[in-house]
Amino acid sequence: MAKRKKIALIGAGQIGGTLALLSGLRNLGDVVLFDIVEGMPQGKALDLQHLAPVFGLDFSITGTNNIADIKGADVCIVTSGLPRKPGMSRDDLVKTNADIIRTIGAGIKEHAQGAFVIVVTNPLDVMTQLMQKVTGFPTNMVVGMAGVLDTARYQAFLAQEAKVSITSVAATVLGGHGDDMVPVRSYTTCGGVPIEQVVAKDRLDAIEKRVRGAGGEIVALLKTGSAFYSPAASAISMAECYLNDKKKILPAAVSCNGEYGVKGIYLGLPVIIGAGGVEKIVEIELNDAERAALAKSADAVRSVVAIAGA
Ligand code: APR
Repeated sequence: MAKRKKIALIGAGQIGGTLALLSGLRNLGDVVLFDIVEGMPQGKALDLQHLAPVFGLDFSITGTNNIADIKGADVCIVTSGLPRKPGMSRDDLVKTNADIIRTIGAGIKEHAQGAFVIVVTNPLDVMTQLMQKVTGFPTNMVVGMAGVLDTARYQAFLAQEAKVSITSVAATVLGGHGDDMVPVRSYTTCGGVPIEQVVAKDRLDAIEKRVRGAGGEIVALLKTGSAFYSPAASAISMAECYLNDKKKILPAAVSCNGEYGVKGIYLGLPVIIGAGGVEKIVEIELNDAERAALAKSADAVRSVVAIAGA
């Protein structure tokens, strides 16, 4: 019998708890939920153990405050950190979350060698870069979750606008997970038709602006935290690509080594994720405006790298 996979969820807050729920519902494997707050991961794990019989699911989930319990994890999804508060930019969080990532990264290095690490903590690109630096894991095994979420937001708004199923909209958003992210209009289609032939230019401009600000829009509504259902779903979809060797093309924050003219930082690019982690960075042809926007986004990420010491 194949050995069950082990999923370590580091941070058991809003996203961490949702990750645990989705991991169980999608039968990813045995889940360990870790947090520094005593009792909280254990309480959430117990609650989820009681959900399993309702749906007839045989998942195992435990909560812990001991990082050593992630030992042997196949996948680590990291959400530990502080979320944004209203009026706070992702970058305001940088120093506090960098310290948390340093601590957690050391724990992953000690207990989960060989794991595929998906970082969700903001500011995303820089925290992912720092995680790779602290663990020393190969760059193909440390990725950041942002592009899947930003793309999903773009798809959702476009499908609403065009009044079609979200499954009819193919889109991609590249660049850093910040105000300078790059919705790639030239690769966005509706039923296979270029999006500019379906949605008017002024509406596309407005939708792309909304995509860039969607995280902040949710923060302003929630007032006490940031988005968690869709970030969790996005990270789970990336974990599934790795665990099931799907080789799906999706945007993720990856270590750039000259692709798209960017080097030495993590940035959101299209990649293939399979059993080898990030198996390939896919180079698509961008138009001049998109290429310039990606370069600007890379500059924005670089400015945060220095603050984080990544
Ligand atoms: N080790 C483990 N867990 C920690 C640590 C640490 N050193 N420091 C903080 N945490 C935990 C908190 O106790 C909390 O339970 O991280 C959890 C974060 O959960 P939430 O505050 O609910 O935040 P969440 O909405 O899940 O977002 C987490 O993802 O999207 C990003 O900006 C968001 O950086 C934030 C992260």
